[in-house]
Amino acid sequence: MTIEAVAPTGNGQTVCVTGAGGFIASWLVKLLLEKGYTVKGTVRNPDDPKNAHLKAMEGAAERLILCKADLLDYDALREAIDGCQGVFHTASPVTDDPEQMVEPAVRGARYVIIAAAEAGTVRRVVFTSSIGAVTMDPNRGPDVVVDESCWSDLEYCKNTRNWYCYGKVVAEQAAWEVAREKGVELAVVNPVLVLGPLLQPQVNASIVHILKYLDGSVKRYTNAVQAYVDVRDVAEAHLRVYETAGAAGKRFICAERVLHREDVVRILAKLFPEYPVPNRCSDEVNPRKKPYNFSDQGLRDLGLQCKPVSQSLYDTVKSLQEKGHLPVMPPQYQKL
Ligand SMILES: NC(=O)c1ccc[n+]([C@@H]2O[C@H](COP(=O)([O-])OP(=O)(O)OC[C@H]3O[C@@H](n4cnc5c(N)ncnc54)[C@H](OP(=O)(O)O)[C@@H]3O)[C@@H](O)[C@H]2O)c1
Repeated sequence: MTIEAVAPTGNGQTVCVTGAGGFIASWLVKLLLEKGYTVKGTVRNPDDPKNAHLKAMEGAAERLILCKADLLDYDALREAIDGCQGVFHTASPVTDDPEQMVEPAVRGARYVIIAAAEAGTVRRVVFTSSIGAVTMDPNRGPDVVVDESCWSDLEYCKNTRNWYCYGKVVAEQAAWEVAREKGVELAVVNPVLVLGPLLQPQVNASIVHILKYLDGSVKRYTNAVQAYVDVRDVAEAHLRVYETAGAAGKRFICAERVLHREDVVRILAKLFPEYPVPNRCSDEVNPRKKPYNFSDQGLRDLGLQCKPVSQSLYDTVKSLQEKGHLPVMPPQYQKL
């Protein structure tokens, strides 16, 4: 069943995007401006050169307002959300340091929903959660299809010191709880590891996941699997989840496919043979980890079709070269 989109353009609508300068949020701001929305983007420092790319976007001069806000500053978030019809809450620490991760993620989620309720104009909040809030469950059988009903196990996240996933679970749970209490319409996007071209000048954590296989910093790949999706599809998913009436109250897994690390390095080595991509696994004893099955039916029902991972990998590397994070090798260094 395809759910009907009710608001195909943003003309006349103002929306807030938290953490606007981040990897995903930058693409979302770009898309919203293209669709005619006026965007109030929160950043921690509007004058930081790392946010200059936002000001240079088409439509930004007329319809992008940068607001200074930290996730721990309720008043600043309240001011940024004032007068908005929608909120995209993407800002979050991305770290495994428990102190830096958990409190800002949870408090930020609560504050954003409360501010949306207080503003009185917000029609829907779209919260960027993560697959990390979905799959970290050691008791899930190998044949279980991971879907939006799955939640990561908090004890397991704690015991494995995976504080990023722990923080994303408790932040998403806080968002659902406060939204229920305050009567705020909420929808959640749970992206898997996000790849693709960068708009922002600095390299974010999910891009480091690929950069490390190209710059020689990692000599062997791990015996592990990971699901991937393109950042442009993640931005589109957020927009569809916002604009589609039937998306309220639901979670949406945003994923293209699950690959073993061996598949990732093979694709990279084939596309870019000039880089020292590892060709041996660090674990030559245990059987090769198997990919899990997931359902992306929710976003398919909203009409989203994700780009193939090989294209995202290609575009990631090209973008890293263009932004000066990877040297472009002269032809004599390129293996045939
Ligand atoms: N990339 C992925 O693979 C992936 C996958 C699933 C979910 N997600 C989620 O998607 C969202 C965006 O991630 P991303 O990959 O785009 O990461 P990113 O580029 O690191 O962006 C994170 C943003 O959050 C902001 N932020 C962090 N702590 C903050 C605080 N205390 N107060 C205000 N702003 C704060 C950062 O601002 P500064 O620039 O000032 O630090 C930055 O703009 C996050 O919620 C993340 O958990 C990402």
